[in-house]
Amino acid sequence: MKKIFSGVQPTGVVTIGNYIGAFRQFTTLQDEYDCLFCIVDQHAITVPQDRLKLRESIRSLAALYLAVGIDPQKATLFIQSEVPAHAQAGWIMQCISYIGELERMTQFKDKSEGKDGVSASLLTYPPLMAADILLYQTDIVPVGDDQKQHVELTRDLAERFNKRYNDILTIPEIRLPKNGARIKSLQDPLKKMSKSDPNKKSTITLLDTPKEIEKKIKSAVTDSEGIVAFDVENKPGVSNLLIIESALTGISIEDLVSQYEGVGYGDFKASVAKSVIDHLTPIQERYETLLHSEQLDDILDEGARKANAMALKTLKKMENAMGLGRKR
Ligand code: TYM
Repeated sequence: MKKIFSGVQPTGVVTIGNYIGAFRQFTTLQDEYDCLFCIVDQHAITVPQDRLKLRESIRSLAALYLAVGIDPQKATLFIQSEVPAHAQAGWIMQCISYIGELERMTQFKDKSEGKDGVSASLLTYPPLMAADILLYQTDIVPVGDDQKQHVELTRDLAERFNKRYNDILTIPEIRLPKNGARIKSLQDPLKKMSKSDPNKKSTITLLDTPKEIEKKIKSAVTDSEGIVAFDVENKPGVSNLLIIESALTGISIEDLVSQYEGVGYGDFKASVAKSVIDHLTPIQERYETLLHSEQLDDILDEGARKANAMALKTLKKMENAMGLGRKR
């Protein structure tokens, strides 16, 4: 069975951007592939985090993975810091990375530009992400568009390792969703929707209340034309809302556009909000039950056990190939 690996950072609440770009794909993939889904808490600490909030976000993210439909019988769900091989293989990946290629990563440039005291880990974030993926001999990495460059670097690092040492690592492929690989901010539809956006009106999270969702979509930036049409270049705000509604309802964008013929932006937005609320309500109900359940800890314990066994196998092979430690 082919392997799938993906990860989400436990920083803030998951947005519908994360959901449409990544999460939603996970639930369909788990039926066909051997899937590993990770809460990448070591990635989260590349920028300072409040320890209590981080703990809370880790648990919350685990409950959300399950609430959206990850089935622990089919997929392995675990926390990155509970599998030490990630940091160990991350170091190895750093050793074969060049500073120049890491400095060229657009996320590094965005996060470090104009800032004092940029942590070294912001630069070495992609080799850790490569380790996450390569430790499981992953065939496919389902992610949103913003992670494309990191997955491409992962492929380069795996090829470099294989050439330099031994043919050990599987070269992974990226999988982007057909629609919604880059959901945009509601306030600035030229920017991606991001968990870390300080303007809370820009994002819809999976845990927003119906009232919050209605308010945010009502104030979403559109244009002055008053016609619901799909045109990403000239009507990015309206197009973003159409992409969101289409992704959540399964109705094609063309069908939505014809449904909205002659409909003004006020009613259009109210209808998009209703689709979002209808989709998120059952997820939120499952989330509330899961969050405080003991079952959640059992699932994470079992996930860590399975992930540790798999990751250690690849790590040992890598260490042997490089001559680290003693021969075993
Ligand atoms: P993170 O936590 O920022 O985002 C999680 C997933 O959501 C996708 N995503 C989006 N998709 C569509 N529209 C958006 N506006 C949007 N915003 C985010 C991301 O592409 C991602 O798939 N570096 C990763 C975490 C990571 C990882 C990994 C992923 C660490 N190791 C190994 C895959 C494999 C990140 O920061 O994702």
